[in-house]
Amino acid sequence: MASSKKENPRHIAVIMDGNGRWATSKGLSRSEGHRAGADAIDRLMDSSLALGLEYISLYAFSTENWKRPVTEIRSIFNLLVEFIDSRLDKIQSRGIRILHSGSRKKLSSLVLSKIDRAADLTRKNKKLTVNFCLNYGSQEEILTAFSKLMEERKRKSVSPQKAVSGKELEKYLYTYPLPSVDLLIRTAGERRLSNFLLWQSAYAELFFTDTLWPDFGDKDLKEALSWFGRRTRKFGGLENG
Ligand code: FPP
Repeated sequence: MASSKKENPRHIAVIMDGNGRWATSKGLSRSEGHRAGADAIDRLMDSSLALGLEYISLYAFSTENWKRPVTEIRSIFNLLVEFIDSRLDKIQSRGIRILHSGSRKKLSSLVLSKIDRAADLTRKNKKLTVNFCLNYGSQEEILTAFSKLMEERKRKSVSPQKAVSGKELEKYLYTYPLPSVDLLIRTAGERRLSNFLLWQSAYAELFFTDTLWPDFGDKDLKEALSWFGRRTRKFGGLENG
């Protein structure tokens, strides 16, 4: 694969961390922190459209987040429903396509109906794709993809001796057919991937910032893009090779 320099990333993944700390620092509740986090998503969509970005994947709720207190879990899902209800018209009129990546198991019928409707209504939009990773965890995704692939092979009587290729497995990932992640941003000073898009981020550039997610804005996005533009991506080869 050729190396590329100074181009905008096609696919940006964001680990939106720090809502709780933002709220605590202001004497607010954690759910108010998540509400401010939802407003930051809104701003990110505006900035991404203005910058002509193509794909954004947002880590909105992980398979591990079920360990949180039930009141906090409820507040995140309520915010998601409110986000879709209040912004779907704007999303549609701006040409944004909504996708969901993650397991459908454990998601309420209300949440599923909202994300399915948003995805269905916006499916032909081409300007920007916003992929909500909800009840998402990479390890679960890869194991589920592998099981589905094996079932499909059995159905088609493919020999179990035939090696599985990455390209074949990728078709069963929740994110298929989105391109691989070019730039992964994590806010709030943590430097972990936390089970987010591990397969898809194999060659991603990793940008860490101390900014808490609710404070993340246009300036921070531009800083990440400018940093990305200075990286030399070699995909395992040589710079000029
Ligand atoms: C991490 O902050 C954030 C999350 C686990 C949830 C992300 C949710 C949103 C941005 C708002 C939900 C809205 C929509 C539209 C999906 P944290 O709570 O772990 O922060 P902390 O580490 O400071 O406690």
